[in-house]
Amino acid sequence: MSEKTPEHIRKEIAGLVKELNDHSYRYHVLDSPVISDAEYDRHYRRLRELEEHYGHILPDSPTQRVGAAPSEKFEKVKHTEPMLSLDNAFSHDELKEFDKKVRKILNTNDDIEYTVEPKYDGLAMELTYRNGLLMKASTRGDGYEGEDVTRNIRTIREVPLRIAGTSIPDEIDIRGEVYMDIDEFEALNRQRADRGEPLFANPRNASAGAVRQLDPAITASRRLHLACYGLGSVKGARFTCQSDFMAWLSRSHFPIPDGMTMAKGIEKVIDEIRRLEKERGALPFETDGAVIKVNDFALQQKLGVKTREPRWAIAYKYPAHQGTTVVRDILGSVGRTGVITPFAVFEPVRIGGVTVSRSTLHNWDEIERKDIRIGDTVVVERAGDVIPHVVMVVTEKRTGRERMVPVPVECPACGSQVVREEGEVAARCVSLHCPAQLQEKIIHFASRGGMDIEGLGEKNVGLLYEKGFIRHFEDIYRLRKEDLLGLPRFAEKSAANLITAIEKSKHATLARFLFAAGILHVGEYAAKLLARNFRRLEDLYHVKKEEVLGIRQVGEKIAASVSAFFSDRKNLELLDSMKKLGLDLSNPDFPREKKSSLPLEGMTFVITGTLPRMRIEVETLIESQGGHAASAVSASTDYLIAGEDAGSKLEKAKKLGVKIISFDALIKMMEKSSAQQRLF
Ligand code: IVH
Repeated sequence: MSEKTPEHIRKEIAGLVKELNDHSYRYHVLDSPVISDAEYDRHYRRLRELEEHYGHILPDSPTQRVGAAPSEKFEKVKHTEPMLSLDNAFSHDELKEFDKKVRKILNTNDDIEYTVEPKYDGLAMELTYRNGLLMKASTRGDGYEGEDVTRNIRTIREVPLRIAGTSIPDEIDIRGEVYMDIDEFEALNRQRADRGEPLFANPRNASAGAVRQLDPAITASRRLHLACYGLGSVKGARFTCQSDFMAWLSRSHFPIPDGMTMAKGIEKVIDEIRRLEKERGALPFETDGAVIKVNDFALQQKLGVKTREPRWAIAYKYPAHQGTTVVRDILGSVGRTGVITPFAVFEPVRIGGVTVSRSTLHNWDEIERKDIRIGDTVVVERAGDVIPHVVMVVTEKRTGRERMVPVPVECPACGSQVVREEGEVAARCVSLHCPAQLQEKIIHFASRGGMDIEGLGEKNVGLLYEKGFIRHFEDIYRLRKEDLLGLPRFAEKSAANLITAIEKSKHATLARFLFAAGILHVGEYAAKLLARNFRRLEDLYHVKKEEVLGIRQVGEKIAASVSAFFSDRKNLELLDSMKKLGLDLSNPDFPREKKSSLPLEGMTFVITGTLPRMRIEVETLIESQGGHAASAVSASTDYLIAGEDAGSKLEKAKKLGVKIISFDALIKMMEKSSAQQRLF
């Protein structure tokens, strides 16, 4: 189809892609946009329209960052050059030792030229470009073989899909770190704590979690960043030193580490490290040290590699920020799902320039494991700028007057009885009338990933609860502008905006709603899977655990929770009353009638029995043609593909009147497309 695109349209598309990528670079890497967001959007929409109309999509088009379907697993990727790790130095003396060794091997007394870069605490990544185009992104893995995470890495706006500028190597592997800002990390952990999910220990784990998602849409929803610092294999270009390479990276629109410098001689290196350490508190991301590299590539070559670490580089690790203080109290806060999370209140203490007066204790098992008592003297650590945590109790300081804190029997917010199920670390308030839970639930319901009601955040929900306008969940949909006008913080415009946002949310998609509803264990991805398989909210009413379990990638815990949620009479009443108040989720997440060039667009298939191809191949084929492969037969299944020895799914399909077809008939349905020839 793309060949038929008229020349002037091709030109316009190429121009728009280039222009949009340029603006995106200015916005995301340089932090200095030259056009307004609205203008950017206008160009973007124009590009999308042209692409859809002519089917002419360039590989580096900004529209191609998101939108890939979830995958089953990550393929393995061999690194052309192994990805090494770094030796550590924990003191200035160890740095001097390193420098001595370098000069000994190079047989020189002269000062060596080094680069000094902040050490990012994230996930190492290799980006492979061929003729300037991003072909592959892979994780470090064991250093020799990593995982193909291209579709996820493409969603990071700072990753160039095409190398900018004129000096473009035929092939180049660029190494860098994918990382997360501290704000994003903390917000993510707050969200997880609310859901009773285990917390990420540091931004590195959180970044790794975000990159290793099977659904690129989830990676895209986390704001990840990139900093490039290394060269792997390269063909068709030559770089002579690290600083020239970094300058080339920067010219070619790759983000490079903030505050990197050069220094001649180890004393100057130490000065630069001191400077970086002073500046680190002001950075939005965490750095856990500085990386020192011999600048000259020829010297690097001479120095060579130990087993897994180069002799030409070393990581200097900052000492962790620690302090000791006394635990004044241990209290609990109630999250959306009723989980009561304990936190410690300290005698305020300055650690690394910040006053710390409380820290989460994660859960009640953790208190027991670390044996933390009220009155204890504890060591508190802030790794970088991240939330402080208790490292250990200084037991020598115990006087005998310390008090152990039992798991609460009453909810600190509403006083109802707390339950703690066998094998669960969480203590939970199960009251339906707990105001803390209700407020947290509503905040989650309205959040960006949920119903996206702007203006219904923590403060306003607290205010509306306090003033009595929200007492039940569905009260959100009873709010009127007049209610808001009398409240502090609300004027005519802000009140009208909130009401409009609430109205708009009534027509959210089913996937959004299922996530927003706050069903235990149902995150954004599970919500999408449920929406794909059930299509209508009503189809989920009284759903059996087994039916949910039939969905690929949905496990026991989610299935049990979904079934319990939709069997609860009170929940169903709530859903019905929200519908009466105008909630209408008929807006399709996965439209059936969308005009599309893909022959199976919008259709759901289930496979049963033995087919002439491996099941996974058939599923991949269906999805590559726009269809969806589900594993359980339900009313929303369009076709059952039945092979030999078909079992209970066939019975069920017959009962529900689902069309039953053979594998050959499936292939016929796709005949319009040529893609199948490529796959089979
Ligand atoms: S250079 C052989 N530079 O730290 C060179 N690494 O502890 C290896 N890292 O695997 C990497 N910031 O993931 C280099 N400016 C930087 C870095 C950096 C963070 C990570 C990288 C590496 C790990 C080693």
